[in-house]
Amino acid sequence: MLIKNAIAYVDGKFAQNDILIENGKITGVGRALDARGEIVDARGLIALPGLIDMHVHLREPGETWKEDFKSGGDAAVAGGYALVYDMPNNIPKPTITREALDEKRKLALKSRCEVRFHFGATENNFEEVRDAKPESLKMYLGMTTGNMLMKDEKSVERHMKEFPKAKQIFVHAEGDEAGKAIGLAKKAGRKVHLTHVPNESVLDAVKGWKLATADVAPHHLFLCKSDFDEGDCRALVKPGLETIKSVSDLWKRLDGIDAIATDHAPHILEDKKKGAFGFPGLETALPLFLDAYSRGLMDLEWIAKRFSENPARIMGLRDYGRIEKGCVGSITLVDLKREWTVHGNELCTKAKWSPFEGKQLRGRAVKTIVKGEVAFSLD
Ligand code: NCD
Ligand code: ZN
Ligand code: ZN
Repeated sequence: MLIKNAIAYVDGKFAQNDILIENGKITGVGRALDARGEIVDARGLIALPGLIDMHVHLREPGETWKEDFKSGGDAAVAGGYALVYDMPNNIPKPTITREALDEKRKLALKSRCEVRFHFGATENNFEEVRDAKPESLKMYLGMTTGNMLMKDEKSVERHMKEFPKAKQIFVHAEGDEAGKAIGLAKKAGRKVHLTHVPNESVLDAVKGWKLATADVAPHHLFLCKSDFDEGDCRALVKPGLETIKSVSDLWKRLDGIDAIATDHAPHILEDKKKGAFGFPGLETALPLFLDAYSRGLMDLEWIAKRFSENPARIMGLRDYGRIEKGCVGSITLVDLKREWTVHGNELCTKAKWSPFEGKQLRGRAVKTIVKGEVAFSLD
C-alpha cells in the first residue's frame, strides 16, 4: 500500500511525505515514492502513527450486551485507534489466569483493531502471573467496576518486586492510593504507570518518581461535575468528575501528561441507571483533542505524542508509535476540517450513548490503517 501526499508526523515534525507499507510494515517514507498495488490518496490529510489506547474495556467474555471485540474494535478504528489494550476486570471471569488470557486472545481475533491485554493482579495470583507471562499487569488499588480491589499492601509490594522490570504495571489509584503506589514502585526500583489521573495532585504524586508515567482520560479534561444535573446516572465514573477549578488547573499541566487513554468503559444506559461507573470514549477522544487544536489549545505534535508515540514507549513497543522504516504499518489519517456532531446512537459502541452528546467537533480520523489493511474508512 502506498499512502500519497500526507502531511505526516515523522521524526517529531509534520511534513509532506509518502508512506509505503508492505507485509504490514513501513518500508519507505519520503517524497514521490512509487509502487504498484493499492494507492491511498491522502492529499490534505494528516498522517499520524496508528493511535494506541492503553486503557479500554471491551467486556468480552461476560458482558457482551455492553461491548464485544467486534463492536469495540469497530469503535476503536472509527476513533482512529490501530491498537488497544483491553483491561482484565471482566465479569464474571476476570483475566487473572493464563486460561482466561488465552480465551480472550481467541475471542479478540474478530476485532478489526489490534488488541493486546493487561493481566489482572490479585492478592495471591503470583504463580498465575509467572505462568501466563503477560505483557503487562494491572492493579486495582481503588474500588471500581469488577471485584479486583487489592487491599493488602504486601501483595502489591510483592507483585511490584516480582513482575519483570522491563514490563509495565498499570495502576488504578485515586488520592492517597496513588502516593502509595508510587512509593512502592520507587522502593522496587521499577517503572509504573498511573492510569486515568483525574487531577493535579495525583499528577504531582506521579512526578515524584522518575520511572512513573501518567495518562489522563479525555473526560477529565473536557467534562466537569457541573456538566450534569445532581443525581444524573450518566455522570458516574471512576475516578469521579472534578470541579471546574480542578479541571482548569489540570489544563495548565498539559506538558506533564505523558499520554491520553480513553478508559473506554461502555455500559448501556439501563446499567448506568443501576449505578454502573464508566463512559464510552473510543470514538470521541481524538476528535475532542483535534477540536481543541483547532481552537488553539494545543499543537498537533502534542496530540501525536500523547496518542501514539508515548503510549508505545510506555508499553515498551519499539516498532510502534512512529512513522519510520521498519515500524508497524499502522497509520491514522485525519481530516482537521471535518465537522460532526456527537450522537451516541450513531456510534459503533454498543453503549449507544456518550457523555459528549450533542457536542459539535471539528476534526476526526477518516481512515485507519491497521498493519497495512484499511480497517476503517469514512464514506
Ligand atoms: C471502569 C469499568 O467500567 O470497567 N469504570 C470506570 O468508571 N472507569 C473501570 C475502571 O477503569 O476503573
Ligand atoms: Zn480504573
Ligand atoms: Zn478503566
